[in-house]
Amino acid sequence: MTLDTVRIRKDFPIFERTVRDGKKLIYLDSGATSQKPISVIDAEMDFYRFHNAAVHRGAHQLAEEATDAYEGARSLVAAFIGASDDEVVFTKSATESLNLLAYVIGNAERGSRYFLQPGDEVVVTEMEHHANLIPWQQLCKRTGAILKWFSIDAEGRLDLSAIESVITSKTKVVALTHQSNVLGTVNPLSAVVELAHSVGAVVILDACQSIPHMAMDVVQLGIDFLAFSAHKALGPTGVGVLWGRSELLEELPPFLYGGSMIESVTMTDATWAPAPRKFEAGVPNMAQVVGLGAAVNYLSGIGMQAIHDHEVMLTMHLISGLQKISDVRIFGPTTNIMRGGTVSFACEGIHPHDLGQFLDSQGIAVRTGHHCAWPLNRKLGVAATTRASVYLYNDMSDIDALLSGIVGAQSYFSRFS
Ligand code: ALA
Repeated sequence: MTLDTVRIRKDFPIFERTVRDGKKLIYLDSGATSQKPISVIDAEMDFYRFHNAAVHRGAHQLAEEATDAYEGARSLVAAFIGASDDEVVFTKSATESLNLLAYVIGNAERGSRYFLQPGDEVVVTEMEHHANLIPWQQLCKRTGAILKWFSIDAEGRLDLSAIESVITSKTKVVALTHQSNVLGTVNPLSAVVELAHSVGAVVILDACQSIPHMAMDVVQLGIDFLAFSAHKALGPTGVGVLWGRSELLEELPPFLYGGSMIESVTMTDATWAPAPRKFEAGVPNMAQVVGLGAAVNYLSGIGMQAIHDHEVMLTMHLISGLQKISDVRIFGPTTNIMRGGTVSFACEGIHPHDLGQFLDSQGIAVRTGHHCAWPLNRKLGVAATTRASVYLYNDMSDIDALLSGIVGAQSYFSRFS
């Protein structure tokens, strides 16, 4: 099924503007952040205009309405990922969700399933972006645990051939990305989850690049924790989600201390409210959470399978177009099997930043650089790449414009070589 992108683009006010002297905006940088439909912008604005009050605190009408809107968004997010409401924690970003987990695991006491000591192992992959690498790296330094990782093969897929030497009886945590923000690779989870659970480890999934683009059910995936950010899924900035299985969230110590996360307090001690409140100290980003609820509603209204199918079509059109252009190297899988709509590439002889600037002059927005995945770039043997990432508002003409832009850039820069 093809999406009606003409109708969809009308829902996104940003596409009414032009860029670079009247050129049509061709936005191919949704892997960095997505554009926002009017329903999300209105939901945030309406919260401030009509319902603004601190949630979970007041007895007045506005406080009641604000709390209902905030908790209503929690229910929408929970339904979107197949979870229970009390398993959804709002944070400020996916980065915070992952840091939260690494920090509180590091604070777990002896006797807890999370307690880490020298010799224990934490497993990541070579394709993590920094947000799902550095927190674990630093946790290992703090506790004496050993950081291990799955490497990638020549196609840019996870190399699971030696899975039993990576996940061992010493593994306590496996934290991996669902979809690489550079390669577009979607990682198979079942073997990893099964082995991790058989040795008593928890599996943490970084779903930043997958949740916005495919239907996901946390129970079916069999994972223990999941993190994503609202802003890549049509929602506002300033909101992230941490999902965790109830019993696992309950066993974790708190992250931030303060209002709303307590059960009772004396001058010398405190006890904690059950999750998710235990992890939501202080007045949260209320309007933004309500905006995320609207984003989830919008995505569900279009249908995640339809969005995914549309993106597969665009991605394969882009990859086959890139393959026809000489001196272009694609990083990551070139088939549509277990692959998302994030395509990184390099043009021989043109620095990615120069290419990005040339494309920008044509109204085409892509990302250039190391994409916050420096170790992966090192593995690929490049300092930087150019990355196009598609979403539901892109159409074939956007891809054609990018392909023509690349050919134009090759012609332009050839005069300097
Ligand atoms: N991690 C985001 C990206 O890949 C910002 O662009």
